[in-house]
Amino acid sequence: MFYPSEVVDDVQSRIDIVDVIGRAVSLKKRGNSYVGLCPFHNEKTPSFHVSPDKQMYHCFGCGAGGDVISFLMNYEDLSFPEAVQSLAAMAGVSLPETEDPAGRRNAGIRERLYSIHKEAAVFYYKYLRSPEGRLGLDYFRKRRLTGETLKHFGLGYAGQKSELCAYLREKGYTDEELDRAGLANISEKRGVRDRFWNRVIFPIMDKRQRVIAFGGRVMGDGEPKYLNSPETDIFNKSRTLYGLHSAKRSKKGYLIACEGYMDVISLHQSGFSEAVASLGTAFTEGHASELRHYTEEVRLCYDADGAGRKAALRAIPILEKSGISARVVDLKPYKDPDEFILNLGREEFQKRLDSAENSLNFEIHLMRDMYDLKDPEGRTRFERAVARRLSAVDDELKRNNYLEAVAAEYMISSDAFKRAVDEERLSSALSGAGIEPIRIRPDGGEKESGKKENALLKAEKLLLTWISDEQEIYPAVRQYLSSDDFSEGLYRMAAEILFNQMDRGEFKPAVIVNRFEEPEDQKKVAELFHTRLGRALQGTEKEKALTELVSRVKRASLDRLGSGTEAVPNDGMDPLARVVKEKQLIEKLSKIGISL
Ligand code: GTP
Ligand code: MN
Repeated sequence: MFYPSEVVDDVQSRIDIVDVIGRAVSLKKRGNSYVGLCPFHNEKTPSFHVSPDKQMYHCFGCGAGGDVISFLMNYEDLSFPEAVQSLAAMAGVSLPETEDPAGRRNAGIRERLYSIHKEAAVFYYKYLRSPEGRLGLDYFRKRRLTGETLKHFGLGYAGQKSELCAYLREKGYTDEELDRAGLANISEKRGVRDRFWNRVIFPIMDKRQRVIAFGGRVMGDGEPKYLNSPETDIFNKSRTLYGLHSAKRSKKGYLIACEGYMDVISLHQSGFSEAVASLGTAFTEGHASELRHYTEEVRLCYDADGAGRKAALRAIPILEKSGISARVVDLKPYKDPDEFILNLGREEFQKRLDSAENSLNFEIHLMRDMYDLKDPEGRTRFERAVARRLSAVDDELKRNNYLEAVAAEYMISSDAFKRAVDEERLSSALSGAGIEPIRIRPDGGEKESGKKENALLKAEKLLLTWISDEQEIYPAVRQYLSSDDFSEGLYRMAAEILFNQMDRGEFKPAVIVNRFEEPEDQKKVAELFHTRLGRALQGTEKEKALTELVSRVKRASLDRLGSGTEAVPNDGMDPLARVVKEKQLIEKLSKIGISL
């Protein structure tokens, strides 16, 4: 199903986002916008804003945001065309008729995937309790799991032969379906064989407690230790968290994130039913946004080795970006939560949970261990690194408190340290860089060009956000830049539509978002318009920052023009004359700068 963008725009223009969202959320007017309790995460104080001018919504708590269509898609779990249909019905307009056999077929495929996984889970579960399942049962006993735990997690067993596939075929599933579910290995030589054999089985459930995949562990030493289902239409590894279906009901006020299946199971068995784990993949934004529905705080129980610390460092900024604060639990001298509990028991574990270090202290202590503080050079690098990290803290009170604490602990002059933090803040505002995870080992310069490109995209993004946030700056920017100056792709397209609107004296972000068809693109573009700049710069500092941003974008554009990496706009202008003109613009910019 595909509705042309004129149709979508037309339907949208007949509807007010405030009315639509107002049916689901109780909204109060505040200034130019409406606020209420966010329907996408649990909160007590309202941080969900709806802007009638922009026809967009945004939650400052969990980061959810978009236009009226994305609201319906997320809130009512509709597809894009279904959301358009629902809006059309509200507006009382009729849509062009089209059949959608593809959409219906897709829904059918997913239904079959859920049912095949359910059958398979029951099969493995029963098999564990059959005479053939003895080995599996012994393994779980050895790992001290109780009968109740086996039941709670639906643990099972896959035997030596291809029993599952035979069973499912008998139930009427085709080889194509077995393959699509990732339950079979199919080859011409050996035919259809079970993917999982001679392993204990961990069914992986989604948060609605439907089985969507499996993990299987060898009973002893062997490679690979764990084997997981591949991703399928119903299994997305970077959103799924093991144990969430049960942890989501926890009332502790925080969730525990650990690394493995066995950690989650062992924690739940000891009464810590708030534990979840990602599935052998690194922690992603998708995981964070799933967690944000249920909690504002995560305690990380990653392995106590270098790899675990690295994983924690990577997870912290991802969590914080989603509005979740993180604390890090110290498991030493044990490797993981499972071993810790087996050895020291639940009371000791609770103590460790209670004394978990907040993420910023954890990061600063790791940095301290990375540098040689007795060496003046090492000390300077340490202080710079901490200043950079603190500069990313937007809350001024919090930033100053840490600043003072660090200055006192390491005997740094707090004035000089404050200046260093301020410098870092200014330079990161200019490059548009967000919080970056610190690196355990400062890496070499291999990826220089990649980084440069990245910095450019950040500058372009920041500029677009700034213009939509403070539309008064547009005329000053427009003197120097046109949308062709943005690098090819998403941002150029967004700039083109935005600049067109601004030239007509309009600003309709929802229309811009809808020009993009891919949901991923829509999300990125929507983000441009509901991000607020980290801090409001004032007076000349602001002009300086804007001048710097505009020249960065302009220079990169001129570089591309000069190197012939990009087609020259076809407007009849002589290429050489264009380069000369652009160079003059840059000179003017660097001499007099933008004044607002
Ligand atoms: P146990 O040895 O059973 O206690 O497992 P563990 O959870 O302590 O293992 P480990 O810390 O080695 O691994 C943590 C998680 O990473 C596991 O639960 C798996 O999800 C994943 N994992 C570990 N080994 C493999 C592997 O060989 N392949 C894949 N795909 N994932 C693995
Ligand atoms: Mn373990």
